[in-house]
Amino acid sequence: MSEGIIGNLLSDQIEVFAVCPADAIERTGAKGFSLSRIDASGECRPLLIIVVRTFGNDYFGYVNRCPHDSAWLNIGSGEFFSPDRSILRCGRHGARFEVDTRVCIRWALQRTSA
Ligand code: FES
Repeated sequence: MSEGIIGNLLSDQIEVFAVCPADAIERTGAKGFSLSRIDASGECRPLLIIVVRTFGNDYFGYVNRCPHDSAWLNIGSGEFFSPDRSILRCGRHGARFEVDTRVCIRWALQRTSA
């Protein structure tokens, strides 16, 4: 995972952070970043994010935390995507999310004991 906070460039309603050059992420690729933020108590806390670049050259940024059990999406293999690279997936239990909407299209796989 890459390191780096570069800065909060603009704020009122939208926070903008520059984390890398736009072409540092390939089309249909994603890159994780480790940022920091100050919480309500004034403590500095890690904030892991993912930036996705689509084939159509749109960029989406998300907190890198699965809503199922708070794992990093790329836990395990380091991959953010399904094998065809069209869907974000969580490496822990297999939840799947649409890139542009964040909609969960498949929840965590249930494990059963034999
Ligand atoms: S933690 Fe992501 S699917 Fe369970």
